[in-house]
Amino acid sequence: MLSRVIFSLLTLVSLISADPSMDELEGTWTSKSNTVFTGPGFYDPVDELLVEPDLPGISYSFTKDGHYEEALYRVVGNPKNHSCPVASVTYQHGSYEILANGSVVLTPIAVDGRQLLSDPCNQEDPNTSTYTRYVQATMFKTFQRYVDPYHGRWTLQIYQFDGSKMQPLYLAYKPPLMLPTSALNPTDAASETDSALGSTRNKIKRSLENQYRTNAIRQTSTESFDKYWWISVVCLGLASSYMFLK
Ligand SMILES: *[C@@H]1O[C@H](CO)[C@@H](O)[C@H](O)[C@H]1NC(C)=O
Ligand SMILES: *[C@@H]1O[C@H](CO)[C@@H](O)[C@H](O)[C@H]1NC(C)=O
Ligand SMILES: *[C@@H]1O[C@H](CO)[C@@H](O)[C@H](O)[C@H]1NC(C)=O
Repeated sequence: MLSRVIFSLLTLVSLISADPSMDELEGTWTSKSNTVFTGPGFYDPVDELLVEPDLPGISYSFTKDGHYEEALYRVVGNPKNHSCPVASVTYQHGSYEILANGSVVLTPIAVDGRQLLSDPCNQEDPNTSTYTRYVQATMFKTFQRYVDPYHGRWTLQIYQFDGSKMQPLYLAYKPPLMLPTSALNPTDAASETDSALGSTRNKIKRSLENQYRTNAIRQTSTESFDKYWWISVVCLGLASSYMFLK
């Protein structure tokens, strides 16, 4: 009971002190379908493979030192013909900054973005998808992070550049599940020899393996609640030792 009260108080405090910061954005966020996650399961840069998830959804990852990754699987229905939806799988990563006014600017690494587009009714072979480079800088007007009172999950509400709400995103991993944050195709030029490309690929493979070993930690509502509980305990401890010192 007491921890519940403290939990609510802390939530309140975190809402009041919500100065948009990189600490708040840190993590891998995913939409309700829970099928799309940034990281090696979505895009394999070694084999240049984009993986189509089971259901449409979007995912964003942010590090607290200014890197981001974007994974989108979008299906747009064709109102004229329901057997003609346009599906796209998009990967981008790069750096981001939070402006003084709270807006967030995402700057992709141009050589790394990829998109798989399938538009069955407007292409010669309806069974193939088009695989292309993709570069799209993005600005979010602002964002809010809060604990969803119903599911008890960390929620990220992003407001797009025009102020409209993006679908809410839920915290899935913290630290985030991401591919290496540096350029994946640093030697991506026509003049590169095959052997030079080969060694770059080996490097990517190795750093991917390291990524697996270290970082991402799956987040569930219980875990974040537990974390809060422990923070409460520590806060209580600090408060009482403060009173004791006085
Ligand atoms: C919808 O698209 C399919 C596949 O291209 C086509 O066979 C069908 O005739 C189209 N239907 C309409 C109403 O345009
Ligand atoms: C597309 O795939 C379907 C089902 O696999 C097949 O029947 C059809 O012949 C293919 N069309 C083309 C143009 O390859
Ligand atoms: C913040 O500043 C940027 C750049 O001047 C601008 O584009 C954006 O609309 C501003 N955001 C808000 C919330 O006013």
